[in-house]
Parts: sequence; structure tokens; C-alpha cells
Amino acid sequence: MSAEKLLRGRVLSFLDEPDGVEDTSVYTYAKDGAILIRDGLIVASGEHAEVALRADSDAEVVDHRPKLLMPGFIDTHIHFPQVQVIGSWADQLLDWLNTYTFPEETKFADPGHSARIASLFFDELLRHGTTTAAAFCSVHKASADAFFGEAEKRNLRMIGGKVMMDRNAPEGVCDTPQSGYDDSKALISQWHGKGRGLYAVTPRFAITSTPEQMEMAQALSAEHPDCYVQTHLSENHDEIALTAELYPEARDYLDVYEHYGLLGPKCLFGHCIHLTERERSAMAETGSVAVFCPTSNLFLGSGLFDEAGLKAQNVRRAIATDVGGGTNYSMLRTLDEGFKILQLQRQRMHPLKSFYWITLGNARCLSLEEKIGTLDAGTEADIVVLDSRATSAMALRMETVTSLSEELFVLQTLGDDRSIAQTYVAGEPVVF
Ligand code: GUN
Ligand code: ZN
Repeated sequence: MSAEKLLRGRVLSFLDEPDGVEDTSVYTYAKDGAILIRDGLIVASGEHAEVALRADSDAEVVDHRPKLLMPGFIDTHIHFPQVQVIGSWADQLLDWLNTYTFPEETKFADPGHSARIASLFFDELLRHGTTTAAAFCSVHKASADAFFGEAEKRNLRMIGGKVMMDRNAPEGVCDTPQSGYDDSKALISQWHGKGRGLYAVTPRFAITSTPEQMEMAQALSAEHPDCYVQTHLSENHDEIALTAELYPEARDYLDVYEHYGLLGPKCLFGHCIHLTERERSAMAETGSVAVFCPTSNLFLGSGLFDEAGLKAQNVRRAIATDVGGGTNYSMLRTLDEGFKILQLQRQRMHPLKSFYWITLGNARCLSLEEKIGTLDAGTEADIVVLDSRATSAMALRMETVTSLSEELFVLQTLGDDRSIAQTYVAGEPVVF
């Protein structure tokens, strides 16, 4: 039996960011399409008639017609220890952190708990069609070991990091500048580049890190320039005010991170809602990434992300769930809420842009576009199979749909985990 798989279905993959509604030059779409997979990589994708010619005669054929095959979705900001925080009845950010989130994260000191939740966390991601995520673990080294161990077992392309936090939180979720450095260093040497795992140096945010800890984060990032940096920035007005009190020398919130050398193309900043002009230009100049977290921003009443303004200033922009501040694992639900946030600001997000964003767009923001986010030959075969008629409401709406853009908009507006018919990780179907 050949080691090859030939998936049949409608095949959609993006080449670039759509410039507007009419921009049909930025994707490839094959109505009678196929993807040929060998050794976890995509060998060819496109028209079935052409791709099938490349397949071994005994390749396994999996017929997904008439479903839509796309690159697996990418979530650029999520908290793995918050799967039992999601849906907690809170006031805004700082109250939510203190009342629910920090107490819950203390449980991850226990390796058994960390291992159980890591497994359930990846089950959820995959059920929702997400094949890559950039995740915050808890402060405990054990939580990151569990995260990467489980990801490796499942051969997942995952980014993660233990949060560094040494003040303004309960003792059970605090490290020290030295232990935060040592644990992060050990995790980098054990997991960064092991299998498909990648490490992110993760100072949680300015409020929970002393200047001494920020220096340690700076040292880690300088010693490991190929690692990511992930943190939070300018999410909530009380958070911004407290940050200014804690870092009185800083010109603004971003300047805290800038001062410690934590800006750059591999630096991911969750939220970025209330940025000043100066902060936006500094982000653009350094290639830093602003991460839009729609369901979280609505749930915590944080504010409205200014996608058009950031784009106009050439700030790189990713999109993410931010579970458990975010309220759904689904990147489709995330797009739907994102659309509404932009709609409130008279910024109209086109469905082609939406599906570009959760695939190639996010891959580019993670500097991983050579590996994931498209169906290009040579990339990793992380694939999602989408059913636009998954519910009776969707099927009814689909009766009047006449174009791909309309179908995508139905998927993002009405779709959720029920629309994920199958997920493939490195060419293997995931059972869920
Ligand atoms: N800021 C610091 N920590 C967090 C967190 O866990 N979630 C969100 N949404 N914002 C944060
Ligand atoms: Zn977050």
C-alpha cells in the first residue's frame, strides 16, 4: 500500500491578502480539486485531473466532495490553562484575572492536572479546525512540559511558553526573575525545535512583571532570537493606568516592552486596542504584530480593535481567540465577532480577507508561511475540511448562495465546530 493520500473536494488556498471585494487574484480555488500528501507534506494541490496524475496508483483516496478543503486554521493567541475559566461571569480584565483566572492557573503546579488539561485542550483545538496555536501556559514549568509533550505526541505545529510573572498575583502563580529565567531557558533547550514545537518567551504583561523580570525576558529573547516573544498590550483602560503607575519612566505602555528590547518581527502583542500614534509607529517600524482578539474584547468590554487604522500605519495584524477571556475556540466564531467589531467602526471585513486572515495571514504573522497556512507543495499537510451545510440553518441559507465569497461569509457567520467535518494533522486524519 502506498504511503500517499489523495484528498478530493473543493480546494481553496490563499496567495496573498485580498485588496478588496473584487480581488479574485489572491487565491486558488479548484471546484473539482485534490490534495496529494506524502510523509506529512503536501506534494501537490489544485485541479483533481492534474493532481491525480502525480499520485501512486495505489494511493489512498479520501473523497470529501462536495466539502471545502483549506489549510488548517491558526490561532495566534490563546491560554491553555484557561479551558475551565472560559465563560466566567466577570467584570472587566483585572477583576476577571484576579477572581477567576489566577486562582484557576494555580492548579497547573500539578503535572497530572497539566497533562489532563493539555490533552483536552488539543482535542478542542482540533475539533474546531485549529491546527496551530500560539499559547500561553501557566507560570509553572510543568504546564509547559505538558503542553509541549502532548503537542509532540500528536505531531502538532505549536508555539507555547510558560508565563513569567513575579508580582501583583497570588503566590501560587508567581515565579522570580531568576526562576522564571531558569525555567524558560530549560524549556527552550528541551522543546524549541523539537518535533514541530516552538518556544515563545512569555512575560505575561507589564503589571505582573517587575523591571528585574523584564530584564530576564530581554536576556532570554536576546540569547534565543529564533524564539518568539508573546505578551499583552493596551487591552483595557485600568490596565493601562496601572502600567503607567508601575513604570513611571515609560513614555507609554509599549515603551515598557521597547525599553527591554521586546519588539520585533517575532513579537506578538495581544489586543492593542488603545494604542497611541507613537506606539503604532514603533510597532510598524519594528515589524511587531498586533493580535486582534474579538470575542475576548467584547466579553471583557475591552474596546474596539482599529484594524483599518493599524493597517494604514503598516502594523502587522493577526487574529486570535484568546480563550478563556475569549468565548469560543472556533476561528469561525472569532471571524464573526471580528466582523461585528469592525462593522461598528464602519470597517467592512470581506469574507475573502477573513479566510486569508485565519490561514496565510496568521501564518505570516508567525513567520511560518513557508511551513503552514497554504496548500502549497512542500508545506505541512495540516488541513481542515469544511461543511457549509452542517446545520439546517446553514443548509437553508446555502440554497440561495451563488458565489464562493457568499459561501465563506455563511461559514463565518453561521459556522462553528459543527462545520468542521475533518481535521488533518501532518496528513493524518484526527479522530474526534
Ligand atoms: N492580560 C494579562 N493576562 C491576561 C489573560 O490571561 N487574558 C487576557 N485577555 N488579558 C490578559
Ligand atoms: Zn490573552
